[in-house]
Amino acid sequence: GKILLLNGPNLNRLGKREPDIYGHETVEDIVRMVEKTLSGNNYSLIAKQSNHEGQLIDWIHEADDVVDGIIFNPGAYTHTSIALRDAISSINVPVIEVHISNVHAREEFRHHSLLAPVCLGQIVGLGIHGYQLAANYFLEFIEAGRE
Ligand code: DQA
Repeated sequence: GKILLLNGPNLNRLGKREPDIYGHETVEDIVRMVEKTLSGNNYSLIAKQSNHEGQLIDWIHEADDVVDGIIFNPGAYTHTSIALRDAISSINVPVIEVHISNVHAREEFRHHSLLAPVCLGQIVGLGIHGYQLAANYFLEFIEAGRE
């Protein structure tokens, strides 16, 4: 099996960026953690980060019928991007939306996700463990053959 881990805008700044909100771990730390979980279960990980909406859309399209699941932190595009929502709707692969911070405890404009309705589910506010939980869910969910 194969999982795609996608991180959107400003997440390349993790570790330096507002550490009181996002913690001290970097994207590389997240990738290593998820890779470990997956490789122990004979799954491989493709991990990508981009600050560009169109690039994220291209990668979502390319993942269709290639990976078994997508773990996606869309950053601020969560709250703004109809184009990313349509990209997720256009593929057969299930997507889990992840947010490091508890967006519901923050500014009003972060409370709404345009993407969540077309995702399998959403994990919010559990720090970088959210990525790990999403990976574990996919392992169980794909094994069980449910969709
Ligand atoms: C975020 C939450 C978003 O509101 C914000 O724009 C981010 C990070 C999170 O992981 O908590 O860039 O997706």
